[in-house]
Amino acid sequence: MAACGVGLLVRVPLCAQGRGQVYRPICRLLSCPGTVAADLKREEQSSGNVEAGSADRSHQKRFSEVQKERREQAQRTVLISCPNKISEKKFLKYLSQHGPINNHFFYESYGLHAIVEFCRKESVSSLQDATYTPSTGKEAAIPFRSRFFNVKLKNPSTSEKPPIQCSNQSPPSSRKLLELLCYAESIDDQLNTLLKAFQITEENAKLRHLTCSLIEDIAAAYFPYCTVRPFGSSVNSFGKLGCDLDMFLDLDETGRLHAQKTSGNFLMEFQVKNVPSERIATQKILSVLGECLDHLGPGCVGVQKILNARCPLVRFSHQASGFQCDLSTNNRIALKSSELLYIYGALDSRVRALVFSIRCWARARSLTSSIPGAWITNFSLTMMVIFFLQRRSPPVLPTLDYLKTLAGTEDKCIIEGHNCTFISDLNRIKPSGNTETLELLLKEFFEYFGNFAFNKNSINIRQGREQNKPDSSPLHIQNPFETSLNISKNVNQSQLEKFVELARESAWVLQQEDQDRPSSSYQPWGLALLVLPSASNSMSLAKKKRKVPPRERIKNLLESIRSDNTEDSINTSGKRTISTRA
Ligand code: GTP
Ligand code: MG
Repeated sequence: MAACGVGLLVRVPLCAQGRGQVYRPICRLLSCPGTVAADLKREEQSSGNVEAGSADRSHQKRFSEVQKERREQAQRTVLISCPNKISEKKFLKYLSQHGPINNHFFYESYGLHAIVEFCRKESVSSLQDATYTPSTGKEAAIPFRSRFFNVKLKNPSTSEKPPIQCSNQSPPSSRKLLELLCYAESIDDQLNTLLKAFQITEENAKLRHLTCSLIEDIAAAYFPYCTVRPFGSSVNSFGKLGCDLDMFLDLDETGRLHAQKTSGNFLMEFQVKNVPSERIATQKILSVLGECLDHLGPGCVGVQKILNARCPLVRFSHQASGFQCDLSTNNRIALKSSELLYIYGALDSRVRALVFSIRCWARARSLTSSIPGAWITNFSLTMMVIFFLQRRSPPVLPTLDYLKTLAGTEDKCIIEGHNCTFISDLNRIKPSGNTETLELLLKEFFEYFGNFAFNKNSINIRQGREQNKPDSSPLHIQNPFETSLNISKNVNQSQLEKFVELARESAWVLQQEDQDRPSSSYQPWGLALLVLPSASNSMSLAKKKRKVPPRERIKNLLESIRSDNTEDSINTSGKRTISTRA
């Protein structure tokens, strides 16, 4: 790959360009050759419509390629806290002394920040060499040569400057969403609109990868060959703006690099400190990193060490990016799950639209929560949608076992004894012959899980069919790689019942939609009734209003038709006219 700007990401998330909303990120190009075309291509891709089943399958990058490019891009990028009255033009001119800039954008998080991506990595070192550690009056600074800077104005001028345009990093407000959904033309259009409004933007994705890269710089103080990799919804294509940033410290490269260096009759090993178990090693590493982030990490606040959890982690806020971060170690299986979800999300454009709507629906109905507990997680909901799409006829998505049969030798992957093999080149997977609309799929999703035999069956995307539950947990969703584990073990009976009840209610509301579409475009309808917290009242009202037994409803309908026939008259042209009789 050329040093700069080429094919940053083929499957970039679509930029937020909802109906009537014109949002253009500020990505100005200075003197980096070859980037204009790449940027135009990106714009074209990011403004393309998402239509049911029409995912652009021309050439899609493998998950590992995308991650590699993003990582390399982040290593050439710096984060700068700026004063509000900065002149964008002068600022960029100043920075470009250190080398050409590929692109940049501004955003707000506890003040104005700029993300500046240079064309070359050396420009970052050059900028670092020209930067000093401040000495403040009473406080003392702990020196740290990072890629997170402050820029100050030596001579703040009072002259008017064009306002800095900031890229949006937050999901739309309920009001904005209501507006977007109410003006949509159909339920399919509503699902696609919601996807565009919530999905991680190109800028947000850059910020996520940069944050991991900055944390890697800190961790490298202890582990010089480590990699901090993002996983979960930040990279699996199902992330909503504002979702947490899951990352893990990968120390595998250290082992592998040195294994290759051993040759001849001798086997050289590092002297290491031994501890009783893998778990204790993880806890010790994370404990040290937690201290390091807390004491030395620029912009890292509220560090919590959650070391006794099933998966030990360090949680902290990265103030400058605004992300809530979860740092763990040795999470290669979770990274593989992220790759699998990325493939499912890329195979058919209906998948992401449906998952986003179900996630928003579950959040609005308090079925999911940011606090850990007996709630269904977004990860489990995504698995349920994938399973449902595997069960359609013909299937929208293939089973994991089928993806395994397509795998080549380079795809073979065994992690901690678990077979995580599946095809990584998604261009070799045949598109689905299913042409169902999103509206139908949404309705059928609610119908399907509103009537699913949760008491005896388990959900299993590996085989794409229901199986007998191996234990008595209320909801059983098999972990696709660690197949003896249930990813929804935390869900209790009452949360499951709430899910089933709301699924049935939502299926019912959608069934009524065609009959009752409101005349005023500001009245919630379709998906808006399901995903907006404020619309839940309208949904219950609508339900109450319609809570007439079916037999009664048919009788009323027949009566109204009969009275229509008597009260309306047929005019001479054969058209029905409504009687003016009171
Ligand atoms: P949001 O953060 O809610 O947007 O979704 P997420 O997919 O990132 O979920 P979360 O942050 O809870 O978890 C991050 C990743 O960890 C998931 O994408 C999975 O790969 C993995 N993960 C989460 N929960 C489980 C679980 O119960 N079992 C296993 N094996 N992996 C899990
Ligand atoms: Mg997450």
